[in-house]
Amino acid sequence: MSHIPSFGAGTFRLTGQAAIDSVRNALDVGYRAVDTAQIYGNEADVGQAISESGVKRADLFLTTKIWTENYARTRLVPSLRESLERLRTDYVDLTLIHWPAPGNGVELPEYMEALAEAKALGLTRQIGISNFNIELTRQAIAAVGKNEIATNQIELSPYLQNHELTAFLKQQGIAVTSYMTLAYGKVLKDPVLAKVASKHQATVAQVALAWALQLGYAVIPSSTKRENLASNLLARDLTLDAEDMSLIAALERNGREVSPPGLAPAWD
Ligand SMILES: NC(=O)c1ccc[n+]([C@@H]2O[C@H](COP(=O)([O-])OP(=O)(O)OC[C@H]3O[C@@H](n4cnc5c(N)ncnc54)[C@H](OP(=O)(O)O)[C@@H]3O)[C@@H](O)[C@H]2O)c1
Repeated sequence: MSHIPSFGAGTFRLTGQAAIDSVRNALDVGYRAVDTAQIYGNEADVGQAISESGVKRADLFLTTKIWTENYARTRLVPSLRESLERLRTDYVDLTLIHWPAPGNGVELPEYMEALAEAKALGLTRQIGISNFNIELTRQAIAAVGKNEIATNQIELSPYLQNHELTAFLKQQGIAVTSYMTLAYGKVLKDPVLAKVASKHQATVAQVALAWALQLGYAVIPSSTKRENLASNLLARDLTLDAEDMSLIAALERNGREVSPPGLAPAWD
Protein backbone atom coordinates (compact mmCIF):
# COMPACT_ATOMS: atom_id res chain seq x y z
CA MET A 1 0.00 0.00 0.00
CA SER A 2 1.37 3.35 -0.95
CA HIS A 3 1.33 6.15 1.53
CA ILE A 4 1.67 9.74 0.42
CA PRO A 5 1.37 12.47 3.09
CA SER A 6 -1.51 14.78 2.22
CA PHE A 7 0.42 18.00 2.92
CA GLY A 8 3.96 18.92 1.99
CA ALA A 9 6.11 21.94 1.16
CA GLY A 10 7.14 22.53 -2.44
CA THR A 11 10.54 24.00 -3.29
CA PHE A 12 10.42 24.79 -7.03
CA ARG A 13 12.16 28.08 -7.92
CA LEU A 14 13.81 28.29 -4.48
CA THR A 15 17.59 28.02 -4.28
CA GLY A 16 20.34 29.00 -1.87
CA GLN A 17 19.27 30.92 1.20
CA ALA A 18 15.65 31.24 -0.04
CA ALA A 19 15.35 27.45 -0.17
CA ILE A 20 17.07 26.99 3.20
CA ASP A 21 14.79 29.59 4.83
CA SER A 22 11.61 28.21 3.27
CA VAL A 23 12.32 24.61 4.33
CA ARG A 24 13.45 25.72 7.80
CA ASN A 25 10.25 27.74 8.25
CA ALA A 26 8.10 24.93 6.87
CA LEU A 27 9.56 22.39 9.31
CA ASP A 28 9.27 24.90 12.12
CA VAL A 29 5.55 25.51 11.56
CA GLY A 30 4.80 21.80 11.31
CA TYR A 31 5.40 20.48 7.79
CA ARG A 32 6.91 17.02 7.71
CA ALA A 33 7.01 16.44 3.94
CA VAL A 34 9.26 18.29 1.47
CA ASP A 35 9.16 18.06 -2.32
CA THR A 36 12.32 18.72 -4.31
CA ALA A 37 13.83 17.59 -7.63
CA GLN A 38 17.26 17.16 -9.19
CA ILE A 39 16.53 19.99 -11.67
CA TYR A 40 15.56 22.48 -8.93
CA GLY A 41 19.23 22.76 -8.00
CA ASN A 42 18.32 22.96 -4.32
CA GLU A 43 18.73 19.43 -2.97
CA ALA A 44 21.84 20.50 -1.03
CA ASP A 45 19.94 23.48 0.42
CA VAL A 46 17.03 21.23 1.40
CA GLY A 47 19.49 18.79 2.97
CA GLN A 48 21.16 21.57 4.92
CA ALA A 49 17.85 22.98 6.23
CA ILE A 50 16.72 19.52 7.31
CA SER A 51 19.95 18.63 9.05
CA GLU A 52 19.97 21.98 10.89
CA SER A 53 16.32 21.62 11.90
CA GLY A 54 16.81 18.81 14.36
CA VAL A 55 13.74 17.02 12.98
CA LYS A 56 14.37 13.27 13.00
CA ARG A 57 14.80 11.70 9.57
CA ALA A 58 12.21 9.05 10.43
CA ASP A 59 9.61 11.79 10.99
CA LEU A 60 10.16 13.29 7.53
CA PHE A 61 8.86 12.39 4.09
CA LEU A 62 11.29 13.47 1.38
CA THR A 63 10.45 13.41 -2.31
CA THR A 64 12.84 13.99 -5.17
CA LYS A 65 12.47 13.66 -8.94
CA ILE A 66 14.85 12.25 -11.51
CA TRP A 67 15.77 14.67 -14.29
CA THR A 68 15.56 13.59 -17.93
CA GLU A 69 19.34 13.42 -18.49
CA ASN A 70 19.44 10.64 -15.87
CA TYR A 71 16.78 8.33 -17.34
CA ALA A 72 19.20 5.79 -18.85
CA ARG A 73 19.61 2.57 -16.85
CA THR A 74 23.29 3.43 -16.30
CA ARG A 75 22.52 6.90 -14.95
CA LEU A 76 19.33 6.67 -12.90
CA VAL A 77 20.60 4.84 -9.81
CA PRO A 78 23.96 6.71 -9.68
CA SER A 79 22.11 10.04 -10.04
CA LEU A 80 19.80 9.14 -7.16
CA ARG A 81 22.84 8.30 -5.02
CA GLU A 82 24.16 11.79 -5.82
CA SER A 83 20.78 13.27 -4.78
CA LEU A 84 20.97 11.37 -1.49
CA GLU A 85 24.40 12.78 -0.83
CA ARG A 86 23.18 16.33 -1.47
CA LEU A 87 20.13 15.69 0.71
CA ARG A 88 22.37 14.27 3.46
CA THR A 89 20.36 11.09 3.81
CA ASP A 90 20.67 7.45 2.83
CA TYR A 91 17.16 7.11 1.41
CA VAL A 92 14.31 9.24 0.13
CA ASP A 93 10.69 8.34 0.77
CA LEU A 94 9.54 8.87 -2.80
CA THR A 95 11.30 9.23 -6.14
CA LEU A 96 9.43 10.34 -9.24
CA ILE A 97 10.17 10.39 -12.94
CA HIS A 98 9.87 14.17 -13.41
CA TRP A 99 8.47 14.31 -16.95
CA PRO A 100 7.69 11.56 -19.47
CA ALA A 101 9.90 13.38 -22.06
CA PRO A 102 8.78 11.33 -25.03
CA GLY A 103 11.54 11.09 -27.61
CA ASN A 104 14.46 11.91 -25.30
CA GLY A 105 16.14 8.68 -26.35
CA VAL A 106 15.31 6.48 -23.35
CA GLU A 107 12.24 4.31 -23.61
CA LEU A 108 9.69 4.34 -20.79
CA PRO A 109 10.20 0.68 -19.72
CA GLU A 110 13.93 1.31 -19.29
CA TYR A 111 13.54 4.24 -16.89
CA MET A 112 10.63 2.69 -15.00
CA GLU A 113 12.62 -0.52 -14.46
CA ALA A 114 15.67 1.49 -13.35
CA LEU A 115 13.45 3.36 -10.89
CA ALA A 116 12.09 0.05 -9.55
CA GLU A 117 15.69 -1.10 -9.15
CA ALA A 118 16.45 2.04 -7.09
CA LYS A 119 13.62 0.99 -4.78
CA ALA A 120 14.85 -2.60 -4.58
CA LEU A 121 18.27 -1.22 -3.58
CA GLY A 122 16.64 0.69 -0.70
CA LEU A 123 17.55 4.13 -2.07
CA THR A 124 13.88 5.13 -2.14
CA ARG A 125 10.96 3.71 -0.15
CA GLN A 126 8.39 4.37 -2.90
CA ILE A 127 8.44 5.32 -6.56
CA GLY A 128 6.10 7.20 -8.83
CA ILE A 129 5.59 9.36 -11.89
CA SER A 130 4.90 13.00 -12.63
CA ASN A 131 3.21 14.73 -15.55
CA PHE A 132 2.08 11.43 -17.06
CA ASN A 133 -1.11 11.30 -19.12
CA ILE A 134 -3.45 8.28 -19.10
CA GLU A 135 -1.68 6.44 -21.92
CA LEU A 136 1.79 6.86 -20.41
CA THR A 137 0.49 5.89 -16.97
CA ARG A 138 -0.82 2.69 -18.59
CA GLN A 139 2.64 2.07 -20.04
CA ALA A 140 4.27 2.70 -16.65
CA ILE A 141 1.85 0.22 -15.08
CA ALA A 142 2.69 -2.31 -17.78
CA ALA A 143 6.41 -1.85 -17.02
CA VAL A 144 6.42 -2.19 -13.22
CA GLY A 145 2.86 -2.99 -12.07
CA LYS A 146 0.29 -0.59 -10.65
CA ASN A 147 1.08 -1.47 -7.04
CA GLU A 148 4.59 -0.10 -7.54
CA ILE A 149 3.38 3.36 -8.58
CA ALA A 150 2.62 5.38 -5.46
CA THR A 151 1.49 8.59 -7.13
CA ASN A 152 1.23 10.64 -10.30
CA GLN A 153 2.18 14.22 -9.40
CA ILE A 154 0.34 16.50 -11.81
CA GLU A 155 -0.59 20.14 -12.24
CA LEU A 156 -4.05 20.42 -10.72
CA SER A 157 -5.88 23.49 -9.47
CA PRO A 158 -9.46 24.82 -9.42
CA TYR A 159 -8.71 26.07 -12.96
CA LEU A 160 -7.30 22.72 -14.17
CA GLN A 161 -9.19 19.88 -12.58
CA ASN A 162 -8.00 16.99 -14.77
CA HIS A 163 -11.24 15.00 -14.51
CA GLU A 164 -10.37 12.17 -16.91
CA LEU A 165 -6.88 11.56 -15.60
CA THR A 166 -7.88 11.67 -11.92
CA ALA A 167 -10.77 9.24 -12.57
CA PHE A 168 -8.34 6.84 -14.25
CA LEU A 169 -5.79 7.13 -11.41
CA LYS A 170 -8.49 6.51 -8.84
CA GLN A 171 -9.60 3.41 -10.70
CA GLN A 172 -5.98 2.16 -10.70
CA GLY A 173 -5.47 2.94 -7.01
CA ILE A 174 -2.71 5.47 -7.77
CA ALA A 175 -2.71 8.53 -5.49
CA VAL A 176 -2.94 11.98 -7.05
CA THR A 177 -0.54 14.70 -5.95
CA SER A 178 -1.65 18.17 -7.00
CA TYR A 179 1.14 20.58 -7.83
CA MET A 180 0.53 24.29 -8.33
CA THR A 181 -2.81 23.93 -6.56
CA LEU A 182 -2.73 27.74 -6.34
CA ALA A 183 -1.87 27.97 -10.07
CA TYR A 184 1.24 29.84 -8.96
CA GLY A 185 -0.93 32.44 -7.29
CA LYS A 186 -3.48 32.93 -10.12
CA VAL A 187 -6.43 31.36 -8.31
CA LEU A 188 -5.84 33.66 -5.33
CA LYS A 189 -7.56 36.47 -7.25
CA ASP A 190 -10.65 34.42 -8.03
CA PRO A 191 -13.92 36.10 -6.88
CA VAL A 192 -15.81 32.82 -6.34
CA LEU A 193 -13.02 31.45 -4.15
CA ALA A 194 -12.96 34.80 -2.33
CA LYS A 195 -16.66 34.42 -1.54
CA VAL A 196 -16.22 30.91 -0.21
CA ALA A 197 -13.22 32.10 1.80
CA SER A 198 -15.12 34.94 3.45
CA LYS A 199 -18.00 32.59 4.32
CA HIS A 200 -15.54 30.43 6.28
CA GLN A 201 -13.32 33.29 7.48
CA ALA A 202 -10.51 31.54 5.68
CA THR A 203 -7.93 32.66 3.13
CA VAL A 204 -8.41 31.98 -0.59
CA ALA A 205 -5.30 29.78 -0.56
CA GLN A 206 -6.81 27.70 2.26
CA VAL A 207 -10.00 27.24 0.23
CA ALA A 208 -8.14 26.03 -2.87
CA LEU A 209 -6.01 23.66 -0.78
CA ALA A 210 -8.98 22.36 1.25
CA TRP A 211 -10.85 21.71 -2.01
CA ALA A 212 -7.99 19.54 -3.31
CA LEU A 213 -7.60 17.74 0.03
CA GLN A 214 -11.33 17.01 0.15
CA LEU A 215 -11.12 15.42 -3.30
CA GLY A 216 -8.49 13.10 -1.84
CA TYR A 217 -5.41 14.70 -3.42
CA ALA A 218 -2.08 15.41 -1.74
CA VAL A 219 -0.87 19.04 -2.01
CA ILE A 220 2.61 20.60 -1.90
CA PRO A 221 2.19 24.40 -1.98
CA SER A 222 5.37 26.45 -1.76
CA SER A 223 6.01 29.80 -0.17
CA THR A 224 8.92 32.05 0.65
CA LYS A 225 6.91 33.48 3.54
CA ARG A 226 6.63 31.86 6.95
CA GLU A 227 3.11 33.24 7.51
CA ASN A 228 1.87 31.80 4.20
CA LEU A 229 3.46 28.42 4.97
CA ALA A 230 1.74 28.42 8.37
CA SER A 231 -1.68 29.58 7.17
CA ASN A 232 -1.67 27.19 4.18
CA LEU A 233 -1.15 24.27 6.55
CA LEU A 234 -4.34 25.26 8.38
CA ALA A 235 -6.29 24.31 5.22
CA ARG A 236 -6.33 20.86 6.82
CA ASP A 237 -8.79 22.18 9.42
CA LEU A 238 -11.17 23.76 6.89
CA THR A 239 -14.22 21.77 5.80
CA LEU A 240 -15.99 22.92 2.66
CA ASP A 241 -19.65 22.02 2.21
CA ALA A 242 -21.27 20.53 -0.90
CA GLU A 243 -22.28 23.95 -2.19
CA ASP A 244 -18.70 25.27 -1.88
CA MET A 245 -17.38 22.17 -3.66
CA SER A 246 -19.80 22.56 -6.56
CA LEU A 247 -19.05 26.28 -6.92
CA ILE A 248 -15.36 25.41 -7.17
CA ALA A 249 -16.04 22.52 -9.58
CA ALA A 250 -17.56 25.09 -11.95
CA LEU A 251 -14.28 27.06 -12.11
CA GLU A 252 -12.69 24.48 -14.46
CA ARG A 253 -11.21 26.24 -17.52
CA ASN A 254 -8.36 23.95 -18.67
CA GLY A 255 -6.06 26.56 -17.15
CA ARG A 256 -2.73 24.86 -17.57
CA GLU A 257 0.36 26.86 -16.53
CA VAL A 258 3.11 24.35 -17.29
CA SER A 259 3.65 22.45 -20.55
CA PRO A 260 7.31 22.46 -21.61
CA PRO A 261 7.82 21.33 -25.21
CA GLY A 262 9.83 18.11 -25.45
CA LEU A 263 8.97 17.14 -21.87
CA ALA A 264 5.17 17.25 -21.75
CA PRO A 265 2.98 14.49 -23.17
CA ALA A 266 -0.19 15.06 -25.22
CA TRP A 267 -2.47 16.04 -22.33
CA ASP A 268 -5.77 14.21 -21.82
N1 LIG B 1 6.25 17.77 -10.92
C1 LIG B 1 6.38 18.92 -11.54
O1 LIG B 1 6.65 18.99 -12.75
C2 LIG B 1 6.18 20.18 -10.77
C3 LIG B 1 5.97 21.40 -11.46
C4 LIG B 1 5.76 22.55 -10.73
C5 LIG B 1 5.75 22.49 -9.34
N2 LIG B 1 5.97 21.30 -8.70
C6 LIG B 1 6.02 21.22 -7.21
O2 LIG B 1 4.84 21.79 -6.69
C7 LIG B 1 5.17 22.82 -5.78
C8 LIG B 1 4.07 23.88 -5.80
O3 LIG B 1 4.05 24.59 -7.00
P1 LIG B 1 4.53 26.11 -7.13
O4 LIG B 1 5.43 26.40 -5.99
O5 LIG B 1 5.06 26.29 -8.49
O6 LIG B 1 3.19 26.90 -7.10
P2 LIG B 1 2.01 27.13 -6.04
O7 LIG B 1 2.25 26.38 -4.78
O8 LIG B 1 0.75 26.98 -6.79
O9 LIG B 1 2.15 28.66 -5.77
C9 LIG B 1 3.26 29.23 -5.16
C10 LIG B 1 3.07 30.73 -5.23
O10 LIG B 1 1.93 31.07 -4.46
C11 LIG B 1 2.30 32.05 -3.48
N3 LIG B 1 1.60 31.70 -2.25
C12 LIG B 1 1.66 30.55 -1.55
N4 LIG B 1 0.84 30.59 -0.49
C13 LIG B 1 0.26 31.82 -0.50
C14 LIG B 1 -0.68 32.46 0.34
N5 LIG B 1 -1.16 31.85 1.41
N6 LIG B 1 -1.06 33.72 0.02
C15 LIG B 1 -0.55 34.33 -1.07
N7 LIG B 1 0.33 33.78 -1.90
C16 LIG B 1 0.73 32.52 -1.63
C17 LIG B 1 3.79 31.97 -3.33
O11 LIG B 1 4.29 33.27 -3.09
P3 LIG B 1 5.00 33.68 -1.69
O12 LIG B 1 6.36 33.02 -1.75
O13 LIG B 1 5.03 35.14 -1.77
O14 LIG B 1 4.15 33.13 -0.58
C18 LIG B 1 4.24 31.49 -4.71
O15 LIG B 1 4.40 32.62 -5.57
C19 LIG B 1 6.53 23.30 -6.27
O16 LIG B 1 7.22 24.07 -5.31
C20 LIG B 1 7.18 22.00 -6.62
O17 LIG B 1 7.70 21.37 -5.44
C21 LIG B 1 6.17 20.16 -9.40
